[in-house]
Amino acid sequence: MAGTVADPLSLVAELLEPVFREIAGRDDADPVVRPSDRADAQVNGALPLAKQIGTNPREVAQRVLDSGVLQAVCSNVEIAGPGFINLTFDDAWLATQLDVVAADDRLGVAPATRTRTVVVDYSAPNVAKEMHVGHLRSTVIGDALVRTLEFLGHTVVRENHIGDWGRPFGMLIEHLLDIGEDVAAQGMRQGDLDGFYKAANAKFTDDPAFQERARERVVMLQAYDPGTIEIWQRLVTMSNEYFTLVYGQLGVLLTDGDLAGESRYQSLMPEVYERLDAAGLLRDSDGAKVVFPPGFTNRDNEPLPLIVKSSAGAFMYATSDLACVLDRVERVGADLLLYVVGAPQAQHFNMVFEVCRMVGILEPPVEAVHVAFGNVLGDDKKMLRSRSGDAVKLIALLDEAVERASAAIEEKNPDLDSDARAAVARQIGIGAVKYADLSTDRVRDYIFDWDRMLAFDGNTAPYLQYAHARICSIFRRAGIERESVRGMPMSIAQPQERALAQRLLAYPSAIDEMMASYSPNKLANYLFDLAQDFTAFYEHCPVMKADEPVRSSRLAVCDLTARTMSHGLGLLGIAAPDAM
Ligand code: ARG
Repeated sequence: MAGTVADPLSLVAELLEPVFREIAGRDDADPVVRPSDRADAQVNGALPLAKQIGTNPREVAQRVLDSGVLQAVCSNVEIAGPGFINLTFDDAWLATQLDVVAADDRLGVAPATRTRTVVVDYSAPNVAKEMHVGHLRSTVIGDALVRTLEFLGHTVVRENHIGDWGRPFGMLIEHLLDIGEDVAAQGMRQGDLDGFYKAANAKFTDDPAFQERARERVVMLQAYDPGTIEIWQRLVTMSNEYFTLVYGQLGVLLTDGDLAGESRYQSLMPEVYERLDAAGLLRDSDGAKVVFPPGFTNRDNEPLPLIVKSSAGAFMYATSDLACVLDRVERVGADLLLYVVGAPQAQHFNMVFEVCRMVGILEPPVEAVHVAFGNVLGDDKKMLRSRSGDAVKLIALLDEAVERASAAIEEKNPDLDSDARAAVARQIGIGAVKYADLSTDRVRDYIFDWDRMLAFDGNTAPYLQYAHARICSIFRRAGIERESVRGMPMSIAQPQERALAQRLLAYPSAIDEMMASYSPNKLANYLFDLAQDFTAFYEHCPVMKADEPVRSSRLAVCDLTARTMSHGLGLLGIAAPDAM
């Protein structure tokens, strides 16, 4: 197709598929195109195909070559070993592909062919409790997914499912009344949410009279008693102010408009209960109403219940999540639900989704996915804690990131004036924290290590940001506008140039790969490879010292690299400063 660009590997696969189908005489023959150490790419599909049709693989490979489809894109094609095909892409063809990408604002990334309405459930801290590093992970991963989904053209609904309802609110409201709103507000503004929670909890444990008050208060809250709701609302507002502070420092897209806490689903819970009841799914279990989704058992192999209503008659966390699915599917009209929540809640979500399927709320093409993630650990490999052993205050952690980045830049670039340094320090410090998280396979735990995440070499944000800033400075020093080289025809010759060109053309595939498993580390790793390919290119291929037209071509390659880097970092929610 004229005008379309694709990763060379995907394009070759596309060209070869009809040839393989024809030889196979069936519809599902995969050419198996892979990157290769010996050439640019390798076609491995002749071997399984030959086996299928009972001929010699080298003969099949020869028939593939004879089809001539590779001629337009390859300068060399060779049959190797038992029947592999080694491909070398044609330099002029690579250059033309690059020209097409450079002329495209989307850098070759096509919008999704099937657009969906996606609810992304992420961040979700709890009211009157410190946001912990798990919430940080959820916020950072969720933000990257939201940005990428939007870029691909999906309709994205952000939902911050804060914990703002349920039993603890009895004691939290009573404690607020005891100490007075001003004192509470003061503490929370300083980010001492845990202090508030702990004090309330201590009273609840020690003081039977307080316990009684707290119990009565929950009942009033759930009955929407106006006076109680008013105090509850103040508590929620105070916490939200703190969350907003954190989101502001992090630079994520979440706003107050995205709040969709547990409380919002309270009024839907009776409906969920009715529907489960009407479907005949509710069972009695020690006075509680539960559903037994098939396939879930405890350690003793007994069926595991999802508790819908406690023996005391209260709806549960699970009930609110059932109501939440109902709301997202039937009111929001979403056909993809992503839950960016820690791995320990995997069973909870699997059971909730299964019960929703049983009652007909969740049916194809609607899909619900738990985008799980591992823990953030300290250097002792235990859950990250502050020195005093308490939960880490997130805002303090982010401030420290900026301070450390500021010190690092001062050392590296003393010429930067103080305003510029403050701005860049924030981009680098926050970028480093986010990237350390995003570049790790999300299902794995990762160790929070200041020195490593802020290092200017290795797979870090500063390294990638530096690669970008370095390209900007090539243009600055030469007094050339970057826009002025856009549209200059590129030519490709040197091995490092060829490697960089192929990497640039693979950007759409990196995004595909990330979204296939909702794993931002796929894109992060691509950007790291891009930075390394650029470094090799810049070492071996002089830019300003080259004669025309090579100089203009290389400048255009530099510009496209910087655009791709900054765009990719942008999808991850990370800034790419022009100088640092
Ligand atoms: N507030 C919960 C927590 O801190 C996370 C909520 C996740 N979202 C949901 N729909 N359950 O663990």
